[in-house]
Amino acid sequence: MTANPIFCAIDTPDLGVATRLAAQIAEHVGGLKLGLEFFCANGPEGIRQIARASGKDIFLDLKLHDIPNTVAAALQSVIPLKPRYLTLHAIGGLAMMKAAREIAYESADKVSAAPPKLIAVTVLTSFDDADLAQIGVNSATADQAHRLAALAAEAGMDGLVCSAHEAKRLKAEFGHMLRIVPGIRPAAGDTHDQKRVMTPAEALAEGADILVIGRPITKAADPYDAARRIAADIGIRAGAAS
Ligand code: C5P
Repeated sequence: MTANPIFCAIDTPDLGVATRLAAQIAEHVGGLKLGLEFFCANGPEGIRQIARASGKDIFLDLKLHDIPNTVAAALQSVIPLKPRYLTLHAIGGLAMMKAAREIAYESADKVSAAPPKLIAVTVLTSFDDADLAQIGVNSATADQAHRLAALAAEAGMDGLVCSAHEAKRLKAEFGHMLRIVPGIRPAAGDTHDQKRVMTPAEALAEGADILVIGRPITKAADPYDAARRIAADIGIRAGAAS
């Protein structure tokens, strides 16, 4: 059975809402992305509850960035949750990313789990060249993103968060790294605040490995049906795992 590349971003602090949604759409998504909004409100127990309710892989989008020792310690605490993917900021540097990789393997081994795929965030899409200049980075966002992607590759990160528009170039250059792509919109859907969107099929054709899709599913009148349609559009059968 073809794997389901859809990870639904469940962006809410409300555990009840998230749990119902997770169970409702589980059949048509490969996994669920839970980020700071959910984690700060509900902590590790909230993650466990969503994993139990859905039976799906968890993408823990914590975008960690601190000194190597602190990031490693944070990872040690979340590895027992057995996330399939976990994000950290490449701007944290080579030593931080390497420390994360080392502890991920060590801690996963202790709980007899596969280590999470470590996914590096390069330049946030909320940043433009002027924002970078303001924090003392005098490069264009594309150059800075490229520099950080190369650093992430050197540190042994498993993947990169990128826009569908960058996926092809990144695949050519860092082919061994996964491309995790947000900003996905079904052909007929509302684009919300995302500016540079692609449909699921287009993003996959560009080289996306994981499609992060939030509001087109979570804010739909019928989230189950929205997830079903998106999966069907890219030829995924109900019940496929990620
Ligand atoms: O609702 P929507 O499909 O726009 O959700 C996209 C998800 O991906 C959100 O959780 C958002 O924080 C995240 N994301 C993004 N753009 C990035 C990185 C992450 O939209 N560059």
